[in-house]
Amino acid sequence: MSGEASKGLARFDQELAEAAMKGQWEFDRLLEGLVGGPRPAGVPHLWRWKDVNAKLLEACDVLPESFTARRNLAFMNPGLDRGTSHTMVMGMQMLKPGEIAWSHRHTMAAIRFVVDGSPDLVTVVDGERLPMEDNDLVLTPRWTWHDHHNGTDGNVTWLDALDIGLVLALNGGFYETLGERRQPEHERSGSTLANRSGDVRPTWERRKELHVPHRYPWRDVEPILLGMAAEDGSPFDGIVLEYVNPITGGHTMPTISCWIQMLRPGERTRPHRQTSSGMYHVVRGAGTTTVDGVDLEWTDRDCFVIPNWAEHSFVNRSTTEEAILFSVHDIPTLEALGLYYETPEPSLGVAPWPAVPADVTRPR
Ligand SMILES: [Fe+2]
Repeated sequence: MSGEASKGLARFDQELAEAAMKGQWEFDRLLEGLVGGPRPAGVPHLWRWKDVNAKLLEACDVLPESFTARRNLAFMNPGLDRGTSHTMVMGMQMLKPGEIAWSHRHTMAAIRFVVDGSPDLVTVVDGERLPMEDNDLVLTPRWTWHDHHNGTDGNVTWLDALDIGLVLALNGGFYETLGERRQPEHERSGSTLANRSGDVRPTWERRKELHVPHRYPWRDVEPILLGMAAEDGSPFDGIVLEYVNPITGGHTMPTISCWIQMLRPGERTRPHRQTSSGMYHVVRGAGTTTVDGVDLEWTDRDCFVIPNWAEHSFVNRSTTEEAILFSVHDIPTLEALGLYYETPEPSLGVAPWPAVPADVTRPR
């Protein structure tokens, strides 16, 4: 046996550490910990609307003006150092009457889901004026200028969700302020999308899938959701629809998938788990989401988080009213990397396209 071997592994490990190296055998415990999949990052948690709303109202006093900083309260997972899930942050933001949240941009992609809105509440994204009525969804893709304008005489509230944990993990953060309260607006609203998502588009531009300001009005989405009440839906999530990217027809944004979900009266779903994490907002209704044995009992406007790889199922506690949930998932990122997985069985995109429309029951 050589003299080098006789120094022992502990001493050798120490010498490696001093030389900025580590033997693979020191990672054995890490690998053993991955048998059966990852440990969920963070814990299931619920933020009640009455608590969030009270603190937002207080924030209006404590932070009397919203300049480039936002009057946003981020939901911090008690089991994480930062973030609502390990990849994303959800939070609630309030603007006072007449207030403008100054223009800025960042490489974190963001979405807004409106809680208390109005046609006179507007987010401007890269020159596009996007009105924010109740339950509308508005996209602020990464690195797009955005400012928020409350043209009403009351407080307005919306939900923000961003891929902060992911972007910071990749050390891909950029941020800058415009230095102005508001950015210039296009003369014709909707022109960016109208000239790029139809049958023709400018050849001299790079494809804009990462950079399309877009609004999904609730008045368009809600009838589609309610109109599918008689379909089978997903055994794990009930009737659940994804907000489609208007350019690619794929996920809402490259890193974020937004869903709207209906649990029919008394509906109880089967448990499953996904390698993705999800952040939820209760549009209306009352139910229970059981996450790894923890019951999250929610009602109107509450928010909650389902960590990655945590088993979860839903119950609509009402036997007469539907429950509607809005949610944000990191599925596109995991899919792009080949890391998206569900058990006990896949549920996304496995049903065949309806060659015979579902509303046609017999040949004429
Ligand atoms: Fe922002």
